[in-house]
Amino acid sequence: MIAKRLRAGTERLLDPLGRHWRGVSEETLRLEPTPLGSQPSEYVRAAWEGRGHGRIRQVSVQAAHNGESLFFRLTWRDDTRNERIADTDQFPDACAVLFPLKGEAVLTSMGDPRQPVNAWYWRADWERPANVTATGLGTTVRHLDGSLRAGAHHDGSGWAVVIARPFAAAGAGELTADLSPGEAVMVGFAVWEGSAQERAGLKAVTLEWQPLSIEA
Ligand code: HEM
Repeated sequence: MIAKRLRAGTERLLDPLGRHWRGVSEETLRLEPTPLGSQPSEYVRAAWEGRGHGRIRQVSVQAAHNGESLFFRLTWRDDTRNERIADTDQFPDACAVLFPLKGEAVLTSMGDPRQPVNAWYWRADWERPANVTATGLGTTVRHLDGSLRAGAHHDGSGWAVVIARPFAAAGAGELTADLSPGEAVMVGFAVWEGSAQERAGLKAVTLEWQPLSIEA
C-alpha cells in the first residue's frame, strides 16, 4: 500500500467524499474475526461461543499525505448505522488503524511489553478519534491527546471514514507511531459492527501486518 502525496489541505482530505480521494488507489483487505480463544476475558469467551463476531469481512483502504498529516480512508459495507449509545447493550460502529510502536510488534496479541502497538481508534459516537497504546491483550490505554482527526459519512449502505494524524505529533515514537514522508511502516486494520454488539476485542481484523510506504 502506498500513501500518495497530494497537494491538498488537511480539511479537504478529512472529507471522506472529497474529490482528491478519487485519484488514490484503493486496496481491499480481507478481515477475520479475532480468535475467540485469545480473548482475555473468560466471560467473553463463554458468552460469545457460537454467537459469531467479526461480521465485517472486508474493508477497502486508501492512504495519502500532504506533507503535514497522514490520512487513511476506510470504506466498508454496513447498512446499520450505529452512532449512539442510549443503553448498556448498545455499541457504536468503529474502526482503527494499528502500527507497531517499536520493532516487530505482534499484531495478533496487540503487541507485548517490549514491543508495544499504537492504534488510531475512530468511533461513530466520538467527536475525535482516540490514540490508543497496548502492550498485549487487555492492556489498552486511551490517550485523548487531541492530535487525531477524523471525517465520517454513512450513505445508508456503508461507512466512509478518514482518520488522520500530523507527522509531527507530540509523543511520536512513544505514545504514537513515528511516521514521516519517505518511510515504510507496517499497518493493520480493524472494524467493529455496533449492531452485533462488537466492542474491544470482539471485532474483525487484518490478522497480518500490511506494508505501507509513505511517498517522499
Ligand atoms: C489490526 C488489528 C487490531 C486493531 C486495529 C485493534 C485495535 C484495538 C483498539 C483501538 C482497542 C481499544 C478499544 C477501547 O479503547 O475501547 C482494542 C482493544 C482490544 N483488542 Fe484489539 N486491535 C487489533 C487486533 C486485536 C486482536 C487480533 C485481538 C485478539 C483477540 C485483539 C483483542 C483486543 C482486546 C481483548 C481488547 C480490549 C482490551 C482492553 O480492555 O484493554 N485485538 N483493540
